Formats: sequence, structure tokens, C-alpha cells
Amino acid sequence: MADKSKPGDYFNRPEKLGAWVGFKQFLWNPETKQFMGRTSSSWAKILIFYIIFYVILSAFFVALFLIFTSTLKDGRPKYELKESLIGANPGLGFRPMPPESNVESTLVWYEKQNTDYWVEELDKFLKGFNPNDGISRIDCKKKKPEHGESCEINLNAFSPCTSERKFGYPEGRPCIFLKLNKIYNWLPEYYNKSSELNQGMPETLKSHIKSREGSKKDLNVVWVSCEGENPADIENLGNSISYYSLGSEQGFLGNYFPFMNSDGYLQPLVAVQFSSVKTGVLINIECKAWSKNIAHDRSDRRGSVHFELMVDEPK
Ligand SMILES: *[C@@H]1O[C@H](CO)[C@@H](O)[C@H](O)[C@H]1NC(C)=O
Repeated sequence: MADKSKPGDYFNRPEKLGAWVGFKQFLWNPETKQFMGRTSSSWAKILIFYIIFYVILSAFFVALFLIFTSTLKDGRPKYELKESLIGANPGLGFRPMPPESNVESTLVWYEKQNTDYWVEELDKFLKGFNPNDGISRIDCKKKKPEHGESCEINLNAFSPCTSERKFGYPEGRPCIFLKLNKIYNWLPEYYNKSSELNQGMPETLKSHIKSREGSKKDLNVVWVSCEGENPADIENLGNSISYYSLGSEQGFLGNYFPFMNSDGYLQPLVAVQFSSVKTGVLINIECKAWSKNIAHDRSDRRGSVHFELMVDEPK
């Protein structure tokens, strides 16, 4: 009935074609010279349109990217200290951490004859402080690093918290390593006069600082103290808590600050050994870092760290 459809004939139904014939006509329609429904000039136009479209789109993207990178500084954060989200109040961290399957956990729990996991974790952690990267570092015990230099970490300074002694775990005298979170360009304001100490400091720390002042040692140190959280924890922890670090301070030596992202920077560590732990009970421990510009807030994890320790006798 209907004539063969001609171009521009939009009013009549197109002829009914079989599936294969219809498809062939869709691929190439000799009458209208259309390939897949478009004439060659139509194809050319659409191709040119998309080429221009994508060129402009990518130029736009590159331009935005360049604008963004031009606001960044080389090797240092754009927002520093108080301007930044992490702020100017460093947190403390501890190692070894419990297995990853239990991210929420801060419980260091082991049986005296089964310490492999914890020793391995510490070995892995400390390996990063003895890197084989060809960068020469300086001994910061006496000297502050100059521009671009970094301090070395001598793992012997933590003795007896060493790998050879399995960090004291089999003896029931476990060592916990503490680190202060890195904040770019953060400088501690030291408690370096015994007349100006914080009243909240534990007595043992106050007397430690006073004795160092007496022996004319460097007091520019971010001090560290660890204590049981509750009276029962204090009793179960006992009073044999020792601190090991570079130069045997009870804290982080000031020469390591500020962190300026220098090549191969290693952050200072303090090893704390708990040598009189009551076995078979869970002990809550809180460690704090002390400088005048560190505020302590347990819920915000500012300036302090909390963990639990539980040492079991073999069954
Ligand atoms: C004590 O610390 C402050 C910075 O917190 C520093 O400016 C001052 O030089 C230090 N005093 C001594 C004697 O090192």
C-alpha cells in the first residue's frame, strides 16, 4: 500500500521490513546514502563536534588542575599548625598494636610463652628506624640538625628493650614504644625549669626533671609519663616503670623538632618497660607527653594515649 519511504517523508509509515533486511538497510541505505542512520556529512559533523567537545573538556580539566596545584607549596602542607585540621596539639601513639582484625582494640595481651606476634610487630616497626636507604643521618644527642639534615635513631639506646631480649615479653616485663605524631613545623615549648613544672605531672616525672636539672643535662625534652588509670591499675602495674630513649631521657629529645619533612626524617621514640606487672589481670595504662603547648584530652586522643596490658602465666 504505502510507497517506499523517501527522505523527508515523515507522514507515512515506513515499510515493514524483515529483521535481516531492516538491519541491512540500517547499516547501509543506498537510497538515502545513510550509514547507520546518518549521511556522511552528518557523521562528519558529529565527529567534529565531539572532537571539539573533548578538547575543550580536557583543557578545562587541565586548567583547573593547574590552578589547584599552583596553590600548593613544595614539600610542605598548605595549612600548617593551628590553621590545619590536625591542629597543633600532637597525639601519642604506641607500638606494638593488636592484630588488625581487631582495629578498635588497644589491648596488649599475651601468655609468657607465646610472644611471637608482639615481638614480630615490634621488629617490623623498628626496622623502619634502621633504614638501608643510603641517607646519612647525624647523632642528635648533642647537635640540632641543620637545614635538610635528619637525626639517626640508635636502637641500642632502648636496651634492654631490644629484639635480642624479645623486648622483655617472655619475662613478663614488656616494652611499649611511644611516638609523638608528626606535625609539620611544630616546636615544643619545653618544661625546662623545675620551678615552672605542670602541677598535673606525676611526682616521679617531677623528680626526674629536677635531678636532671641538678646534673646540668639538656632539659629541652618533651617529657613522657605512664601511669595506671585507676587506683587498682596503679597497684597492678607496680612502681617499676623504666623509660629508655636517646640520651636516657624520660621523653623525646628536643633536637628532633620541628619536623620539616627533611629527607629521611625519623621521629624520636621512647621505650617504656613495665617490669612489675601483676599477671592475670587487665591493667589500664595512660601515657602522656608533656610540653607547655600540649593539652591532654583522652577522648580526643590529644597529648596522651591509652592502652591495656594483660600478661598471663602459662596454663
Ligand atoms: C627553654 O625552652 C624554651 C622554649 O620552650 C627555649 O626558648 C629556651 O631557650 C629553653 N631554655 C634553655 C635553658 O634551654
